Formats: sequence, structure tokens, C-alpha cells
Amino acid sequence: MPGPDRRRFLSQLLGGAAVTLATPAWLRAGETIPAGKGRGEDEAYWHRVKEQFSLAPGLILMNAANLCPSPYPVQETVFRHTRDVNRDASFQNRGKFGALKEEARRALAEYVGASPSEIAITRNTSEGNNSVVNGLDLGAGDEVVLWDQNHPTNNVSWDVRARRWGFTVRRVSTPDSCEDAGQMVDSFVAALTNRTRVLAFSHVSNASGAGIPAMEVCRVARERGILTLVDGAQTFGALDLDLHDMGCDFFTGSSHKWFMGPKEAGLMYVREESQERLWPTHVGVGWEGAEANGAQKFENMGQRDDAAVVSMATAAAFHEAIGPVAVEERVRGLVLAIRERLTDAVSGVRFHTPLAPELSAGVLVFALPGVSHGEVFQEVYETHHLACTGRGGAFDGIRLSPHIYNTLDEVERAVEALAAHV
Ligand SMILES: Cc1ncc(COP(=O)(O)O)c(C=O)c1O
Repeated sequence: MPGPDRRRFLSQLLGGAAVTLATPAWLRAGETIPAGKGRGEDEAYWHRVKEQFSLAPGLILMNAANLCPSPYPVQETVFRHTRDVNRDASFQNRGKFGALKEEARRALAEYVGASPSEIAITRNTSEGNNSVVNGLDLGAGDEVVLWDQNHPTNNVSWDVRARRWGFTVRRVSTPDSCEDAGQMVDSFVAALTNRTRVLAFSHVSNASGAGIPAMEVCRVARERGILTLVDGAQTFGALDLDLHDMGCDFFTGSSHKWFMGPKEAGLMYVREESQERLWPTHVGVGWEGAEANGAQKFENMGQRDDAAVVSMATAAAFHEAIGPVAVEERVRGLVLAIRERLTDAVSGVRFHTPLAPELSAGVLVFALPGVSHGEVFQEVYETHHLACTGRGGAFDGIRLSPHIYNTLDEVERAVEALAAHV
């Protein structure tokens, strides 16, 4: 979309919601943020961004890997449509959601660098992953290769399916805190055989925070005729994505994580050429129309929460107003600041997450010396209002996942809180 059209589009999307903001109206009706202004090092700018959220005073929320708040414009769009449906649930009144949903699909496609016909609006990443797991023709003699750090929905789900259809699942391990992108790629390439049909991996692991150079891995898989599923739960909304460039066949994400959109909504990208290889999991009312409409046939599941679905457009507009590059830079900048402060404040801290930008994003996992991370996770919330994740298992540690509603001041306080419990 060319510049002026894109700006008008954003104004229209944000305008209706922004006029009813309960906090200082930074994004007023018809306003957008001039490119390049107030970005980068300008902490005051990010304080203004924070004002767009209704976070509890004093709370340091660094848990984006799990669930994110929505900014006021998104909340207001959801509330407005929810109230409208509850006021008049007639077919006539709800008829408008068809067009609004297509607007959301276009906004999402633009945001992730795809065509609208390649976007299905799902309920979450779990549903997207399972739609791919259940939708491909696989049988005895076929092999699916996974990263052993995949989320259960892209991991155990394959085992359950394999039990029924007789294909084989193989898992790839990668070294802890590996800083060598070539080595990470090679771990996957070495696991591929002439029986491999699908390669499925998290773009960024929720367990270790490590990222996979998706473009390179997908390129190799494509050359060998292998389909790729990239689970983007930890990158959709955090990184400036271009799925056509990435070259994957399937990509899944949740609105309610880094995208900061409505809850229980999500996205599944299905590359145009790969659509005929994926069977739909749900078939419902409207199938005849959906079947001929690209990825729409993968979201044909009956009554949805229309308010949530269509409000994804406002979330996309919110990202576009700040700029996906600026969001990514800020997220990476906050992670880097946490790493530096922690290294100074806690001797013996050990990072599971690599430092290299091509091998990490907004999820930072680290082990503190001599503590129970489960206990620290509880204590820092109770004493310092720091919301994070305490993990056990292979990547025993604390997970901090900061987002654009965090400030550098909160980084200081988060590190102080953790250091006080070591
Ligand atoms: C990598 C990954 N995939 C999938 C999911 C599932 O997300 P949802 O519960 O939104 O479906 C998560 C949740 O944390 C995740 O981290």
C-alpha cells in the first residue's frame, strides 16, 4: 500500500477507537506518528507508548511470551463491538462483520508480508499448529522432523497424529546458548533425509529464548521439497516479519501474545502454493464460499467472537503506527539492557538465550546461581510486582519477556528485584 493510502487507512482504523481513550490521547482521531520522530533512544517516547496501556500502577510486566495486555485503542474496539452485538444480535446488525473481518485479514497480511488469501484468522497458535499437524497427508514411510524445543502443540501433537497414521517423528537438538547461526542451521539440515516430508520448528523457543534462522532453514527444506511449519508464537508482534521472504509454507501466531491484540484470536499463514496440500480440520456453515477463497477454508468453524476477530485490524494498525522496525528494535534493546544489568548485578548468572540477533528476539531465559527459580518467580511478584516466568526442566531459570510497554526504569527495577533474591 503506498504511503498516503497507508496513512489514511491507519487513521481510519485507529480514529474510531482512539477518540474514546481513557488516558491521554496520544493517538488521536486522524493522527499518526510521523516516521522517524521520537524513536530509538528517546525514552520519553516509550513512556508515551506505555500510557496507551491500562497496566496496574507499579506492576513490572515482563511476560509477553505468555500473555500481553492490549493498548486502549484495541480494548476500545473490542468493547465497542462486544456491546454492539449484545445490544442487537440480529443477522442484520451482525452483517457488517463480514466486511470488517476482510479488513482485518488485509491488515494482517500487510503486517506480516503476505497476501490476504494466505491468511486464516484462527483462535491461537495452538489451533494453527494442530491444523497443520492434522491437515497434511502423511503415512507409513514418511518422516516429520521437529526441534526438540517445540511447544507441545507442535511437538506432542505430531506424536499423537503419528500413532494414528504410522509416520515417524524425529527430533533435532541444538546446543544450549549457541552463538553460531551456521551450526544451528546445520543441526536441522543434518537431520533431513529423503523420507522427510515436514520440518516444524519454533521461530523462537518459549523454553530457552533461542531463535532459528528461519529463512535459511526454510530455503534448504524447500530445495528438497520438504514443507515447513514455523511456529511464530514468540515472534508475531515482536519482530518485523516478511513471510514471503522467510519462505515457509505455514506460519502460526497468537494475537494475545506479542501482537497485543484481542484475546483468543490468532493467525495462520498458508503459502498460496501449499494450500492444496493442507486439508481443512473444521468444515462448517459457509464452506462453499470459503473453499474457493484461499486460506479462508482453514477458519471455517462456526460462530466466532466477531469482536475479537475484527479488532485484530486495530492491533495491526497500532503496530504500523509505531512501526514494526521500531517495535523490534525496542524489544531487542530492552533485552540487551536486561542482559547487561544482570551480568553486572548477579555474579554467576548464566544465559540460556544466545546474544546474536539472528538467534534470539524478545525472550530471555537465564539461570540464577543457587536458587529455586519457582520460588524466585513467586517472591519477585509478591515483593517487587515483577511478573515473569519461572521455568524448570532443561532450561531451568527465569524467563523475562519485555515489550514496548516496558521502560528502562523498569529494567533497573526488575534486575534489582531478581538480585535481591539471589
Ligand atoms: C512457541 C509457542 N507455540 C505455541 C504456543 C501456544 O500459544 P496459544 O496458547 O496462544 O495457542 C505458545 C505459548 O506460549 C508458544 O510459546
